[in-house]
Amino acid sequence: MKIAIIGQGYVGRSIAAACVGGGHSVIGFDTDASVISSLQIKGDYEGTTDASLIGSAEVVVIAVPTPLDSARKPDLSAVKAACKTIIENVKKPVLVINESTSYPGTLRNEIVAVVDSASGLGHMYAASPERVDPGNAKWTQKNTPRLLAGLTPEATALARKFYSSFCDEIVEVSTPEVAEAAKLFENTFRQVNIALVNEFAQISNALDIPTREVLEAAATKPFGFMSFQPGPGVGGHCIPVDPSYLAYVAENVGVPAEFIKRANQVNLGMPAYVVSRAASDVGSLKGKKVVVVGVAYKANIADTREAPAVLVISELQKLGAEVSWHDPVVENWNGQNSCDLQGFDVAIVLTKHDVVSEADIKSCAPYVFDCTGTIKGVAGL
Ligand SMILES: NC(=O)c1ccc[n+]([C@@H]2O[C@H](COP(=O)([O-])OP(=O)(O)OC[C@H]3O[C@@H](n4cnc5c(N)ncnc54)[C@H](O)[C@@H]3O)[C@@H](O)[C@H]2O)c1
Repeated sequence: MKIAIIGQGYVGRSIAAACVGGGHSVIGFDTDASVISSLQIKGDYEGTTDASLIGSAEVVVIAVPTPLDSARKPDLSAVKAACKTIIENVKKPVLVINESTSYPGTLRNEIVAVVDSASGLGHMYAASPERVDPGNAKWTQKNTPRLLAGLTPEATALARKFYSSFCDEIVEVSTPEVAEAAKLFENTFRQVNIALVNEFAQISNALDIPTREVLEAAATKPFGFMSFQPGPGVGGHCIPVDPSYLAYVAENVGVPAEFIKRANQVNLGMPAYVVSRAASDVGSLKGKKVVVVGVAYKANIADTREAPAVLVISELQKLGAEVSWHDPVVENWNGQNSCDLQGFDVAIVLTKHDVVSEADIKSCAPYVFDCTGTIKGVAGL
């Protein structure tokens, strides 16, 4: 099939590569020329900033950002812009699939309602929320079960045919709203459980019980328990953002989403907690040379979106510390380069990439606070 993908970020390029592998001819459209020039997808693929090229596709996939606005409410402006691109450039009936994460009702009320009334072409529509986990070598586009629901049985059948060409397992659900809500619930489940373990880390520390040992012990229960690890907060495009999409629709229908809000509070409070632990261990951080190790939100990837490092650094600065950061995977961040790992008073490890050695961390400062639970014999969560 001829496929057009609107948005060539983490998700769009991953689907593009999978589609090319599945034998399709792919147009990857992005409004950002620097994104297109950085792409290296081999095979029958054309990356472009020319929206008119999507006009030749049979399937159009939307994979644009769905962030929160400054009031932490859903910002669907990129989805709306993608709809406009479709209206202006697609002149024959196609299958439109939304993979961007959003609240239930987005396909029907925000995409179909707009595109259908403007184009009058009778497109087919499906929702198939993306589940890809960047950097995860075990769970890929191929072996991660793919949720989907079409607006009509014909749309569902065509979406199934499309995804079957590169996914091992398709999970059809009854409506697009089920697929959309399932995606939000999956990430809310993670957000709430991470908040719970973060709260537990604070409780066990106050009780002087080793947190990680408790968690390992609890995880030996073979049923009814799932292991989550504490950390300096949550980062990335999904866990800090998606639950607020669910809270938004919940509140619109009169259900206060207290769990989600409380989990946000706990996770957003972790940077201050981590810094307060380090401050109380070393006496005062005023004038101390502190290095934050790992500013990416998770190990072995260069993604700094929503990374807790921002809040940790600002908390350290509030206490008068002289702060540097070291992250050889990210290399350049906020106009600064990663520093050398030597000559510090305090090291706070937020993310431990494989290329950063434990020995180098331990020798760079007399006091190390490890948020990752991977460095033996130092203070930490
Ligand atoms: N990154 C993840 O791990 C992940 C996982 C599952 C789902 N998602 C969801 O997938 C969607 C995309 O996320 P992402 O991580 O790929 O975002 P991203 O920011 O990496 O990429 C989005 C791309 O879309 C482009 N873009 C923005 N508006 C556009 C428009 N109107 N037309 C064409 N291109 C446009 C941007 O330039 C950018 O390159 C979001 O809804 C996100 O929540 C992300």
